[in-house]
Amino acid sequence: MIRNFVANHQQKTLKVWYHQRQKMTRSGKESSPMSSQKLRVGVIGAGIGAFHLAAYARLPQVEIAALAGLDDDRVRRVATEYQVPTTYREYGDLLAVPDIDAVSICLPNALHAPVTIAALRAGKHVLIEKPLARNVVEGRAMLAAAAAHGRVLMIALNHRYRGDVQWVKRYIESGALGTIYYAKAHWMRRSGIPQLGSWFVNKDLAGGGPLIDLGVHVLDIAMYLMGEPLARTVSASTYAEFGPRGLKGWAGRQQTADARHPYEVEDLATGFVRLDSGATLLLEASWATHGPAGDDFGVTLYGSEGGVELLVRNYTHENTVRVFHDIHDVPTDLAPRPAKVEGHLGVIERFVAAAHTGGPQEPSAADGLRRVELIAACYRSAAEGREIAL
Ligand SMILES: NC(=O)c1ccc[n+]([C@@H]2O[C@H](COP(=O)([O-])OP(=O)(O)OC[C@H]3O[C@@H](n4cnc5c(N)ncnc54)[C@H](O)[C@@H]3O)[C@@H](O)[C@H]2O)c1
Repeated sequence: MIRNFVANHQQKTLKVWYHQRQKMTRSGKESSPMSSQKLRVGVIGAGIGAFHLAAYARLPQVEIAALAGLDDDRVRRVATEYQVPTTYREYGDLLAVPDIDAVSICLPNALHAPVTIAALRAGKHVLIEKPLARNVVEGRAMLAAAAAHGRVLMIALNHRYRGDVQWVKRYIESGALGTIYYAKAHWMRRSGIPQLGSWFVNKDLAGGGPLIDLGVHVLDIAMYLMGEPLARTVSASTYAEFGPRGLKGWAGRQQTADARHPYEVEDLATGFVRLDSGATLLLEASWATHGPAGDDFGVTLYGSEGGVELLVRNYTHENTVRVFHDIHDVPTDLAPRPAKVEGHLGVIERFVAAAHTGGPQEPSAADGLRRVELIAACYRSAAEGREIAL
């Protein structure tokens, strides 16, 4: 039954893709001159930016043109690994290169809006790392700039393209879960507070702590799997139990929080969201807890006809999915084993298709903005101690 469902789904997906391509070609939306040339890309930021380079390097229709970053040693190392011909320190120098068509922006969160808007103005298509922005005002300005300059703006919500998440998506679309009325999404770490003094723990540079850093991924997976319901109300709380004491850094490392290295964000957030579909979502994100988690994320979906648990322990890909049904009145658990697929490649393949030949923009900047709106409402709810209507 499951094999039939997968085969049917693949056929359906191909048909939809073929149909969309025909429509685009007829309406002249496909940019035929560009599609015969390689897409020249630049990557700004050499941390997670290395994952972007690894994915671009696998695509024959892409030519990697440049990498920018302030950390010279890392930039040099990453550029050597991916044979990047040109490096810059300042992102503005990379954006000034006229024949770079598209950029990945992999910078601290405070730079997402200004650098994205500068890149769009310079005529580049943009793939921005998550979260879209620190707040809703910045996010809206980014979408407006993409519309004004007629360029692609997509967001690297990469985990939705993991093989297991895609399998669950197809299973839901087959109708196997019926109506999903409750979901739980979490990313919980036992000990993984980023370095004190780094931008990650600075409220102004990051926009928040684990909720905007990790929670955005599982919020995205949950909303994507549930078919993008809109949030109606949010009630959330945040805590900072360990960060201000310098406890629970990576691998249990202790740090010293002081005036020069302050800890300004939460280390745990929990939220309860009412959705316009009538369903509810429980959201949890932490960098540090006394709890069973290592560095674990997942989404559990409860439907009228079945349930699914996706649980990824320590970034593994094995044994991550369980499916629950009653078969002939007997509770039955299934353990499907989807292929291991890494998410950044999935996002970057789609970004390149969108920028190169006018393929669909998914994950869209609008998805990214909805995630930021909900996260901002969580922070507001926590600060004001009350439920917030969106
Ligand atoms: N999708 C994911 O799984 C994932 C994972 C990690 C980080 N991220 C996101 O990626 C972004 C970057 O995170 P990171 O972990 O790589 O951070 P990082 O601090 O490790 O790296 C940031 C990079 O930006 C460069 N940079 C900073 N200011 C610059 C400037 N003015 N001009 C040019 N370069 C500049 C730094 O030199 C560095 O190379 C963040 O938004 C983060 O949320 C996403």
